[in-house]
Amino acid sequence: MDKEEKYQLLEAQIASLIEGETDAVSVMANVCAAIHETMDFFWTGFYVVKPTAAGGESACDGERHEELRLGPFQGPVACMHIPYGRGVCGTAWKQCKTIVVDDVEQFPGHIACSSLSRSEIVVPLMASDGTVRAVLDIDSTALATFDAIDRRHLESIISTLRYLFDE
Ligand code: SME
Repeated sequence: MDKEEKYQLLEAQIASLIEGETDAVSVMANVCAAIHETMDFFWTGFYVVKPTAAGGESACDGERHEELRLGPFQGPVACMHIPYGRGVCGTAWKQCKTIVVDDVEQFPGHIACSSLSRSEIVVPLMASDGTVRAVLDIDSTALATFDAIDRRHLESIISTLRYLFDE
């Protein structure tokens, strides 16, 4: 089965897995497990936008009091806090767009959770109001793993999850 066919099956599997499910953690857990198992990636997981321990919505000093916090994932242990604009994940959050990195050593500020990671894709999950609520992060131990096929299908999968974060 080629990559395109695997993704088509994966999208159908995820559509049926999430039907009628409204708990964000449960859905993200099964979605990353499905992606990870089907595509055989090194690390597949979500980081979720959360208030930082020190901040909060009432803070009024103009600083951002949110960070990306480790959510459901599959693979080796990973860093738990990623600041806005930092690393591939924090940059995808800040720029509100998918980032594909062919060689993590060439990405300024890349956060190395594992020295085995060589390439990476991060897809932001936007609620219907357009704000980023989480990111899907996938790492590979090979260089340049992620191409236009990965981007298209992963963006499609992530767009089906935005209802989880709509108020
Ligand atoms: N490499 C990511 C950090 C998360 S780990 O890869 C799981 C980054 O630079 O944001």
